[in-house]
Amino acid sequence: MLDSIHALASEIERRWSSAEYRSTDFASIAHDCLAQAELHARFDEAEILRWAIAAEQLPEQHDLRGGFGQPPLTLWHGSRFFVDLYFWVTPETAVHDHGFTGAFTNLQGNSLHCMYGFDTHATPAPNLRLGSLALTGVEYLQPGSVRAIAGGRDFIHQVWHVSRPTITLVVRTFHEDGWSQFEYHPPGVAARIETSAAFTRRFQLLEYLSRTDHPSKESLAEELVLGGDPWSSFFYLTKVFAERSARSSRDPASFERLLSRLTERHGDWIRHLGDAIRSTDRHAGIRWARLADPTQRLVLALLSSLEDRTSIEDFITKHFPDAQPDAFLFEGLRGAREAQGITLNFSEGHWAILRNILRGATPEQIAMSLGGREALGEAQLGRLEAICADLRRVPLLAPLFTTRAGRR
Ligand SMILES: [Fe+2]
Repeated sequence: MLDSIHALASEIERRWSSAEYRSTDFASIAHDCLAQAELHARFDEAEILRWAIAAEQLPEQHDLRGGFGQPPLTLWHGSRFFVDLYFWVTPETAVHDHGFTGAFTNLQGNSLHCMYGFDTHATPAPNLRLGSLALTGVEYLQPGSVRAIAGGRDFIHQVWHVSRPTITLVVRTFHEDGWSQFEYHPPGVAARIETSAAFTRRFQLLEYLSRTDHPSKESLAEELVLGGDPWSSFFYLTKVFAERSARSSRDPASFERLLSRLTERHGDWIRHLGDAIRSTDRHAGIRWARLADPTQRLVLALLSSLEDRTSIEDFITKHFPDAQPDAFLFEGLRGAREAQGITLNFSEGHWAILRNILRGATPEQIAMSLGGREALGEAQLGRLEAICADLRRVPLLAPLFTTRAGRR
């Protein structure tokens, strides 16, 4: 395998030098060489692990802190580009672009690949853009799939690694001038991925205050959110929102209060930040580390990224032609709940009604199947309507109640 990696790097070096190292040519060269190499066909995880553990020396490691990959492992390191392998135990959950170019491939395991476009409408700060984020394509990557990585806004994506582990390989340049990396939050906020020592440390302190339920938690969080620039306020506020979601009974108003104080300070555009933070509710409660089953993980990834039920069912039909989409979705959700990977406080009645809704029944039809509205009686009818309302309120299930035109 390592011989193949060295051969791949030499071939890329040869072709790129012929192209006079033009940065615009690197992604297609990396893509073509990766596709030709077919590394997945001879990939052996045990061989790589043995080499990484026993080799006298490892190549220079690009990302020692392990910010991307769980962990990353640099297999080849040159002066203009490098080859990294990534082990993934839980999926990437951020939509992002890239400050570099290159190509990636799945060596082992499957991934749901979601691609996006972003139209910028306003730039309230250099590190913050407002606009609209739109899903432009969804595909299922399998061992041997190769995709080019363009720098900047031409290639915005999110990769849900549904197999545990998924192992990917990337050939990429170093961070290039002129492209800063952004992460994207629906419906329309892009925030630059950057770190400063003060921001990172204060974010960690916010985490400490939350974990200890510190008596000064509220006041210090408020000071951080209101005292910072809009970019850091956005991330601090994301933390406050996550805290609110986790402890909904404590102070549900703190997030909204801070948001309206921020709006007073910076203007009406702050509401876009609020909408972006609220959108995280859809998948914030998923405990990926507890989920090993690829079908369960795929169902949760589809519900997190796709906007409507037809798109989800079309994806399942295309890639799992033997499966019934309604059963696929139901079993994925039910299995994820049993594995305690999602917190849905559903009764057996909720599951039975969800099963019927997934089969295409309307609440009216469910009532009819139980003997009709007259036969059910007021109490049972009220219970049925309450359960349907409960199901519609679960952010993760929203696409199941959304038609392609976006009506709920
Ligand atoms: Fe990426």
